[in-house]
Amino acid sequence: MKDENYLKANNARSFWHPMTAPSDSHKNPPTIITGAQGVRIRDIDGHEVVDAVGGLWNVNLGYSCQPVKDAIAAQLDRLPYYSTFRGTSNDCVIELAEILRDYFAPDGMARAFFTSGGSDSVETALRLARQYHKIKGDPGRTKFLSLKKGYHGTHMGGASVNGNANFRTMYEPLLPGCFHIPAPYTYRNPFNESDPAKLAQLCLQALEDEIAFQGAGTIAAFIMEPILGAGGVIPPHPSFMPGVAEICRKHGILLISDEVITAFGRTGAKSGARLWGAQPDFMCCAKAITNGYFPFGAVMIADGVAEVFEQDTTGRAAIGHGYTYSGHPVGAAAAIACMAETQRLQIWENAAARGAELHKGLLDLQIRHDAIGDVRGGHGLMLAIELVGDRQTKSAPHPTTAARVQTATYKAGAMVRVSGPNMILSPPLVLTSADVQTILAAMDAGLSELS
Ligand SMILES: Cc1ncc(COP(=O)(O)O)c(C=O)c1O
Repeated sequence: MKDENYLKANNARSFWHPMTAPSDSHKNPPTIITGAQGVRIRDIDGHEVVDAVGGLWNVNLGYSCQPVKDAIAAQLDRLPYYSTFRGTSNDCVIELAEILRDYFAPDGMARAFFTSGGSDSVETALRLARQYHKIKGDPGRTKFLSLKKGYHGTHMGGASVNGNANFRTMYEPLLPGCFHIPAPYTYRNPFNESDPAKLAQLCLQALEDEIAFQGAGTIAAFIMEPILGAGGVIPPHPSFMPGVAEICRKHGILLISDEVITAFGRTGAKSGARLWGAQPDFMCCAKAITNGYFPFGAVMIADGVAEVFEQDTTGRAAIGHGYTYSGHPVGAAAAIACMAETQRLQIWENAAARGAELHKGLLDLQIRHDAIGDVRGGHGLMLAIELVGDRQTKSAPHPTTAARVQTATYKAGAMVRVSGPNMILSPPLVLTSADVQTILAAMDAGLSELS
């Protein structure tokens, strides 16, 4: 590796970072992470902190998951690559499909289609949803509905169903035929409704209204995250996702559950759809499927959808979609090991227990720090605090507030993520109670910076 001076001098010089302005990376050079162990990361200056971001919602089993590392190394030696396009397969991906089928069977899933990551999985589900209707002789069903504040990656299709202007405006025009309904975001919503159950009903009514307006026969699918993640961690009322599923079924609209964050235990349940007891038609997975150690994803496909494709006699079911790295043998080997560890540790149980501790700790911080307008969590290890300038009016914080808190929190021992006014927590699911306290103490110190 190049020495420290070289790395600092060239930091962000020849490389544009995702999700920030190139000039910002010059003004505020990114922290250079050089090592990690357990749930801790270490930077180039030797400063070590608990990673309350969990990589990027993906390092569920921490940075020292030896079985996944061993599986990757062994597979690189055995078969480093082969394609799964028509006519060839590999041993790992066959085994993985069976494992995923068993894991997601209670969600009604029966088949897998492999991808290279979350945005690919979203794109795949959107495409297969349209194709499903075409196979069935219903080619007019092409539109997509989704939630404002939802995040579905950054491919053109995903950005089109995305509910945050930051990922859309500079790339418009996006895909035609995509429409959004209000998110069940209790802290701020167009209905001025603070009761989560009532708000869920209002959002469901908005969905019914939009379907009536567009015409059910024009809509292919509705896509949602079971708990909205990147949009600021917005858990809906338990009635919401089952309500969406019922409305979709009634109108012949497919339901895509975007589980890129929620699929493997993060919510305290084995999947996000299972947390709410909803049965989708597709589930988009990625991230923790390999513990973040290899770029990989999968779309799970429900029995009823699989049947339509597999029993087609018209020729319309040929899938004209896929990636060079679909079913990559190294990714599949990593995923097999990762699934085994996830199941062995029953990792969703620790996510639920540590999530409850972290949630309680954040609510305690809110009592002491006026800058915290809202605390969101209560379902495993996905939580957020929303910072405000004034609690009464819920005004936006000063533009530099979140970054100041984040920097001070990092110095005090925890990496947290800033997204607009939100500080988002998505730590590894192998977190201990002591790690929870480290995160809370660091955030306390970070927030004290404002007083
Ligand atoms: C719900 C959801 N969908 C899709 C994506 C896109 O995944 P990727 O960044 O792997 O393309 C993300 C990424 O955070 C996500 O949270």
